[in-house]
Amino acid sequence: MGERHKILLIDDEPANLRLLRRVLGSDYETLLAENGPEGVSILGKEKVSLVITDQRMPGMTGVQVLQESLAIQPEAIRILLTGYTDIQALIDAINSGHIYKYVQKPWDAEDLRLTVRRAIEAYELKEQNDKLVIELRQALNQLENVSIGTIIALANALDAKCDYTSGHSLRVSRYAVCIGRNLGFSNEEMRDLELTGILHDIGKIGVPESILWKPGRLDPEEQKIMSHHPVRSALMIEEIEHFERVRLWVRHHHEHLDGSGYPDGLAGEKIPLGARAVLVADAYDAMTSDRPYRKSIGYERASQELRKFAGRQFDPEMVEALLKSVGDNGEGLIGGNIPPSFLGLTLGSIDPLQSGKQYLAESARKAQAGQ
Ligand SMILES: [Fe+2]
Repeated sequence: MGERHKILLIDDEPANLRLLRRVLGSDYETLLAENGPEGVSILGKEKVSLVITDQRMPGMTGVQVLQESLAIQPEAIRILLTGYTDIQALIDAINSGHIYKYVQKPWDAEDLRLTVRRAIEAYELKEQNDKLVIELRQALNQLENVSIGTIIALANALDAKCDYTSGHSLRVSRYAVCIGRNLGFSNEEMRDLELTGILHDIGKIGVPESILWKPGRLDPEEQKIMSHHPVRSALMIEEIEHFERVRLWVRHHHEHLDGSGYPDGLAGEKIPLGARAVLVADAYDAMTSDRPYRKSIGYERASQELRKFAGRQFDPEMVEALLKSVGDNGEGLIGGNIPPSFLGLTLGSIDPLQSGKQYLAESARKAQAGQ
């Protein structure tokens, strides 16, 4: 047996209150109020399972009390005690839809006990249902957290291998959602854009460090290994549920509009929208961050380059959507004017002006250590 249920009894006749308590007091904890406002004030302090109120009371009627109780304790069960002449009150109460039952006076003690027992059962059932719903929701949230945790672990693994990429992925993710927002992508698409931005290069974990860290141009063989990374990225997230679209976008994030990209040489409309957005976001970040083989070229030249290759390499619509967010002074992407992160990541805290610095420092350290 758990705690005893609390029942609030409201009646302006003290004799009636005593009678109700005598009938119900042995099975339940009863709280007594001699008028509506007093009852409402008790509801503000004590959680009750059931409210039983007389209809006819000076000042505040039973129906009014029950309506107020609905706002304070919506989960409580409500019973109205009425006389034969209270037809309108009954209609009001039933129409308001929130009373469990009305009991006509004079009531029979045994009937009332039974009605109350059923009401308490209904309360317990509802309470149990609510608990199940909450537990289910928590379980779903946990699932979601696990997959987000996995994603962050993956991104961190790449970070450990290749210092600049994690910041790079977060920035690409951020630029991609700006493009998506400016083109009216749906919430689900925005979520997938964010994920694609973070995961697009995850397959670089499989690329040898000698290639990843190479300061100069790659030879054809190295180029071939490097250009396999989108396929590897997609494979690495193969097992994650509900990631069909993310996988597709990740796989095609190096396809060019004219068909000259990789891995499948898709062209034009054949390239999925999100992949086209990530390509532009990726290129913008590559041009505006410092790398060992070249420095950032700045937002103005980067914008010019994007426009120059729009229609060949890039989808012009995607380019204009990004540049709209970049703004005239190039600072549109630094401030807080970024769509919120669906993963709860602090995308806004990355400063593009700092990008690549960590990587360069690590590169210098390795060079000094003679590695
Ligand atoms: Fe890539």
